[in-house]
Amino acid sequence: MAKLKLFMTRELFPDILKRLEPYYDIEVWDKYGDPPYEVLLEKVKDLDALVSLVSDRIDCRLISEAKGLKIIAQYAVGYNNIDIDCATKRGIYVTNTPGVLTDATAELTWALLLAVSRNLILADHFVRFGEWERKGTAWHPQMLLGYQLSGKTLGIIGFGRIGRRVAGYGKAFGMRVIYNDKFRDQEAERALGVEYRSLDELLRESDFVTIHVPLTQETYHLIGERELKMMKPTAILVNTARGAIVDTSVLLRALKEGWIAGAGLDVFEEEPLRGNHELTALKNVVLLPHIGSATYEARRAMAELVVENLLSFAKGEVPPTLVNREVLKLKGE
Ligand code: NAP
Ligand code: GLV
Repeated sequence: MAKLKLFMTRELFPDILKRLEPYYDIEVWDKYGDPPYEVLLEKVKDLDALVSLVSDRIDCRLISEAKGLKIIAQYAVGYNNIDIDCATKRGIYVTNTPGVLTDATAELTWALLLAVSRNLILADHFVRFGEWERKGTAWHPQMLLGYQLSGKTLGIIGFGRIGRRVAGYGKAFGMRVIYNDKFRDQEAERALGVEYRSLDELLRESDFVTIHVPLTQETYHLIGERELKMMKPTAILVNTARGAIVDTSVLLRALKEGWIAGAGLDVFEEEPLRGNHELTALKNVVLLPHIGSATYEARRAMAELVVENLLSFAKGEVPPTLVNREVLKLKGE
């Protein structure tokens, strides 16, 4: 049987990818930076399979050029960079990597929340750049005060895999946890000891708000002026989901004018964030370069799942984490 032609927009883990060799001829984009869109447009023309990242724009123009493409295996759980409807209409499978990065992303969410609430980055700079030494005291009652978590209310927007894991950690910190989602899950409420709220109620009641919905037409700029003005002036917003869920220009005003106390951001409307972006001048934010799933464990497990999906496809089976199940109807399965 002839091998399938696969292009990967980035090098993953060669020892894991080895399992694909009996089925696929693999070409890898081996540079650190993104393959330019124009290069991708050319590459996809004679492909059977594509492995993509969140930073690759897989729009309908690109999909339409890919006449022989049969599967897009995304190395991420979120897939807002892919035109799913367009892929489905053309009978192309789209797969993602859910579950295996839940712990990593939930842990990073807590790292951000703690970093903002306890001024960890400022405190590190305080020591590193000699400010502590210059102050002439080892300990001062007003030095770098932050907000305690215990006894506070944590509001979770999007009660899926990551949102639920974050909720569990919130309970461990002694917090009251409330959530909003499209659907209320009373069984999970009982199991985790959390309460459901409308989005407005959640924003008004929470001391910490953390976002875990996917980016869709419905969630684009879900958090704008009206929502940020509802939050407490002492509240902290954390976003490890997608940048465009929050209106950045309004968030900047909120942070400068004290509508909220601070923000922890792993994701941005435009990535990479410019080094001279206005956000970088603010002391009440912690900014990370989209590293939610960046642990050795999660990234290897994501690669394993990409491989599982590609192997299932090559054997004529339904890939285990197929996103667009409607494609099966089209194929009469
Ligand atoms: P998930 O299990 O699908 O959870 C998302 C939850 O949000 C689901 O319960 C979903 O409900 C709900 N939801 C969707 N639209 C909503 C809306 N308009 N209002 C309220 N709730 C809504 O996904 P996950 O695995 O937790 O991942 C969540 C997102 O995190 C991903 O989509 C990705 O963008 C982001 N992420 C970022 C990183 C990073 O590196 N920073 C890493 C991993 C994930 P339904 O299931 O009913 O649609
Ligand atoms: C990362 O952002 C992901 O969606 O996995």
